[in-house]
Amino acid sequence: MSVGEPIPMFDYRPGHEAIEADLLAAIVGVLRSGTLILGPCVREFERAFTAFLNEPGEAVGVGNGTDAIAVALKSLEIGQGDEVIVPPNTAIPTVSAIRSAGATPAFCDIDPTTCLIDLERIESHITQHTKAIVPVHLYGNALPMAPLLAIAARHGLRVVEDCAQSCGTRWQGQQTGTFGDIGCFSFYPTKNLGACGDGGMCFTRDGNLAESMRRIRAYGCGTTYVAQQEGINSRLDELQAAILSVKLPHLPAALDRRRAIAARYDEYIGGASSRVRTSTHTEHSFHLYVILVERREELIASLKAEGIGFGVHYPVPIHRMPAYQFLGFAEGDFPKSEWAAKRVLSLPCYPGLSDAAIERVAAAIRRHAS
Ligand SMILES: Cc1ncc(COP(=O)(O)O)c(C=O)c1O
Repeated sequence: MSVGEPIPMFDYRPGHEAIEADLLAAIVGVLRSGTLILGPCVREFERAFTAFLNEPGEAVGVGNGTDAIAVALKSLEIGQGDEVIVPPNTAIPTVSAIRSAGATPAFCDIDPTTCLIDLERIESHITQHTKAIVPVHLYGNALPMAPLLAIAARHGLRVVEDCAQSCGTRWQGQQTGTFGDIGCFSFYPTKNLGACGDGGMCFTRDGNLAESMRRIRAYGCGTTYVAQQEGINSRLDELQAAILSVKLPHLPAALDRRRAIAARYDEYIGGASSRVRTSTHTEHSFHLYVILVERREELIASLKAEGIGFGVHYPVPIHRMPAYQFLGFAEGDFPKSEWAAKRVLSLPCYPGLSDAAIERVAAAIRRHAS
């Protein structure tokens, strides 16, 4: 066993070092501008992000990715008494956003090869109360959107894409987040495009929904002190928007590096472990590089001993979490999600990861398999 420098699961610092002067200039510009909330930097970043998505539509900056989903659902008037179909294998905020909109999550199990919602099962969960599907493009992979949109159209359902982990992922050449009614993004620092704090974005082709979301993010008011509809407070601030505008032009190169790291892992450990499969027609962005392993605790112990960071996304499916027991689900209700939760392991995969670090991580995985 070769123990060297610790390899963190994620480190934003190498990426920021290269553009530090531009970041500092952007920050100073905001400090001197006299506007800190919902000003020109937010409008400019909304414009630039829409251009990045390369589809006609409008982007609405919000406080974080969780709020993006809640704001999206509220703008679609989805709330109490409504059911929203979502996989149990997702980050908690997908479900907490559905709850904060007032709606009820209706879980649908995953395809164990991709760990994404199983399109074949969705229709069996549709009831007279179902209003929307929230497909989660987990790990930077993508759901096949044409069949998903066909299911939604057949049943008159809305589609709110959770793209928190899939910024820059394409399905059939088109960016995730531009297929459904609304696409929701997170700029949490670890994400493919990370702020220096919290941030989020909603994207829609529908100008009325965009207008509604702009009101909802600001107490339902827009620019007056009269609420036109019920809202919350979830604003992207000028500092984060200015920082994100500096980082956005570097995103394509960062995505290329993530894909190159994933290709190396595939090459070095492909025979020794099974990576969660990429959907067909997908240009994966590798927000996370996830393998399925047996005897995971043993591997985790050896990674810890070697100073190698890792993640488990996610150790407990949402329907088995104490907070969501009130929904009434039990062990065995979503067996594929439960199976995956016992096996998934995420390896370090971020643009600043060195080639030597990739080799050390891969060697540790190969030793576990042998
Ligand atoms: C799949 C998924 N959905 C939603 C979110 C929520 O994003 P945020 O942390 O910006 O609220 C995250 C991020 O943690 C996520 O990974």
